[in-house]
Amino acid sequence: MREGQPHTIYLKDYTPPVYQVETLNLKFELGDEFTVVTSTAHYQRDPSHLGNTLLELDGEDLELISVQLDGRYLQVNQDYRLTPEGLQILTMPAQGSLEIVTRIYPQKNTALEGLYQSSGNFCTQCEAQGFRKITYYQDRPDVMTLFTTDIIAERAKYPVLLSNGNLVAAGELEEGKHWARWLDPYRKPAYLFALVAGHLKHVEDFYTTGSGRKVTLRIYTEPHNISKCEHAMQSLKRAMRWDEQRFGLEYDLDIYMIVAVDDFNMGAMENKGLNIFNSKLVFASPETATDQDYINIESVIGHEYFHNWTGNRITCRDWFQLSLKEGLTVFRDQEFTADLHSPAVKRIEDVRMLRTFQFTEDASPMAHPIRPASYMEINNFYTMTVYEKGAEVVRLYQTLLGRAGFRQGMDLYFARHDGQAVTTEDFLAAMADANQADLKQLQRWYDQAGTPEVKVTMTYDATAQTCRLHCVQSIPATPESQHKQPQLIPLQVGLLRETGADLALYLEDQPCDGILQLTQAEQSFRFTQVPEQPVPSLLRNFSAPVRLVYPYTEAELIFLMKHDSDAFNRWDAGQRLAMRAFESLLLDLKQGIPLGLSHECVCAWQVVLTDENLDPALRAEALSLPSETDIAEQLRPADPAAIHQVREFVLTTLAKALRLDFEIIFYRLQHQGVYQIDAASMGKRRLKNVCLAYLGHLDDQAVPALCAEQYAQANNMTDALAALAVLVDIDCPERVAALQHFHDRWQHDPLVMDKWFALQASSSLPNTLQQVQQLLEHPLFDMRNPNKVRALIGSFALRNPWHFHAADGSGYAFLAERVLWLNERNPQVAARMVRPLINWRHYESGRAQLMRGQLERIQAHQGLSADVYEIVSKSLA
Ligand code: ARG
Ligand code: ZN
Repeated sequence: MREGQPHTIYLKDYTPPVYQVETLNLKFELGDEFTVVTSTAHYQRDPSHLGNTLLELDGEDLELISVQLDGRYLQVNQDYRLTPEGLQILTMPAQGSLEIVTRIYPQKNTALEGLYQSSGNFCTQCEAQGFRKITYYQDRPDVMTLFTTDIIAERAKYPVLLSNGNLVAAGELEEGKHWARWLDPYRKPAYLFALVAGHLKHVEDFYTTGSGRKVTLRIYTEPHNISKCEHAMQSLKRAMRWDEQRFGLEYDLDIYMIVAVDDFNMGAMENKGLNIFNSKLVFASPETATDQDYINIESVIGHEYFHNWTGNRITCRDWFQLSLKEGLTVFRDQEFTADLHSPAVKRIEDVRMLRTFQFTEDASPMAHPIRPASYMEINNFYTMTVYEKGAEVVRLYQTLLGRAGFRQGMDLYFARHDGQAVTTEDFLAAMADANQADLKQLQRWYDQAGTPEVKVTMTYDATAQTCRLHCVQSIPATPESQHKQPQLIPLQVGLLRETGADLALYLEDQPCDGILQLTQAEQSFRFTQVPEQPVPSLLRNFSAPVRLVYPYTEAELIFLMKHDSDAFNRWDAGQRLAMRAFESLLLDLKQGIPLGLSHECVCAWQVVLTDENLDPALRAEALSLPSETDIAEQLRPADPAAIHQVREFVLTTLAKALRLDFEIIFYRLQHQGVYQIDAASMGKRRLKNVCLAYLGHLDDQAVPALCAEQYAQANNMTDALAALAVLVDIDCPERVAALQHFHDRWQHDPLVMDKWFALQASSSLPNTLQQVQQLLEHPLFDMRNPNKVRALIGSFALRNPWHFHAADGSGYAFLAERVLWLNERNPQVAARMVRPLINWRHYESGRAQLMRGQLERIQAHQGLSADVYEIVSKSLA
């Protein structure tokens, strides 16, 4: 735990390491109470540093046993010094071998960073700075070396011993112990180190690379989960093939291992040759995993695999460059999913998430550029901004350069930087140089935070047959800067004729591909040869992560919903239509005017719902209206109770008006036979379950029975859970029975029970907070398991805005108390859980004060971790 205030680290202070490491040998003696780590590193001073003899090693929570330099024991205070940050070797020669022995306590490690235990097995999480909890070392990504790892443990308890690279030797020892030696032939930074030891089983498969090398693929799990790995294995093979086809990238070791663990702070980790995964992102069977789980697993398996090139072969110079690997790798996994399934559905889902959570973050006191200029705790910067906005910025290159140009840029990036630790400027330069393009202005996307707003107006001149789009961009002030420079924004547009067809575009009589490049604060584009007044379709396929403002009329939005050739914008027109409706309903509510939804609006959704030519998944997306969180974010200051009321009003109105259509479609799609996870089957289930959710808004006795029946008949988790999700919001005997049944059926399976906890936490029934509090005491709940915390507490705070924002502040007080509990045990998770409080300024004054009060309570707590301190203090600043 921290002493005093944590300090801020700045990008501008970066200096290259004075010493590089040629080789690193690690020896782990894994014990029941403690583990002894012996690390032997050969150091080489950078020749440009003549006089400097200080070698600074990072270390945290380590018990130092001994230090030897070239075989000689060093003396404390004479040869080395211990500091709060680590160990300083005072008289380090230009080269020398350091052997350091430390003792650590993995069994007591509740922060799940460094070496720890999950279900009695050893595993590691070193990114970003967990390696310093294993041994004293330069724990920074620009120090790369060749690792050899020896693991010694009791054979009976830990029959499987794994680390990065290839197994080169193994053997028996006395007292029932055994050992294994792993050698990783690729230089890597310490954050990519991994070790696993335990009682594990594996499934095995093979993959032959494009150049004909045979790679062994293994997924390790606890024995009882071994049957749930097939989907992950197939996903891995698809990812390997895809990366060869799309980017010409092959795997580079003889073995690729994935280990699933139940206790994990994040999703997964790309350790070289030995990925460690949250088991939630590995295990799947039709009875236990939803369609969304299947897709998530495939995408995260892909993500970690793609890191082998974008992250491992080329890594980050420092942690400010995190988006270099994460933004790029998220972009790659998005393209992977789009290529394998439906590109339009994938784009809609990604943008929905970006707008709900990243736009919110970008408007928060924690707003930061995708490449931050400073941080206190780097773990706080594994954010939607660095990942998802980072991916959108990578997408800008592809939009501007085309797929072929983007590929050339990637090829040059690998040709130049393989084996190096580099910066986002290096990536930009490779893209620009490979295409002889001037992309300098894109740099601002890396350095400026805040969601740009683009305001567009259109004027049509019938005599000249011209149409002018006037674009004004502005970027809101954020903590790192008040005044922003204009960014390069590719704005993809179309102009629709009255028939709904796209006009051929001419910019000043030159044929135009529809991508306008905004580079200035204010800019006009004149289209010529425009025979009639068009309706503009703007920001097609969400060509940049901006808020687009255009004074659309209701009629124009309905027109776009029907006709836009861009599937994304057809969907977005519906979202804008809904948002308009919410906005005016909120005003009516305030003024006591009875609520009503226009007939045209209702018909517009009916057209989408019943359009048999439209992909069912897209119909489902169109009918999924902006969430309460989205509305709160766009219509500030937010009153969560009013938002809940008007959104429920709209859902109920549509359910009543279109009841027959919902029923027809529901019954037609009801039974689908054998469970399949292709895009078409998933789309049908999705549409059916959206219909069911609407029917759930009818005050009708038949609904609970219908849900209970679907729940009982379902041969897959998607349908079972969808039915239960409707029931959970209705106070009826079917609800009680189904929840009990689910509990009894799945109590042995922690991942499925997470769904049970999450569902109840997101219920709209009045006593939900008491329910959540009772569930904290449930024998299967465990505050030390991050998945459980996210399922119960995370769902309540993020997916149940109405109850979380209860006017009496009870939701806030509950969250604050849980954050303080977690703060002492797992600071990373605590810092995630505090985030729903930080946008307090976006709420009406009563709630804002209550939220701020809880932040102040947390801030006043003694012994606050750096993680929580950073977020809370920035939120109150
Ligand atoms: N690099 C991992 C991934 O995105 C995430 C690891 C983050 N870990 C952390 N403790 N912040 O694939
Ligand atoms: Zn990643």
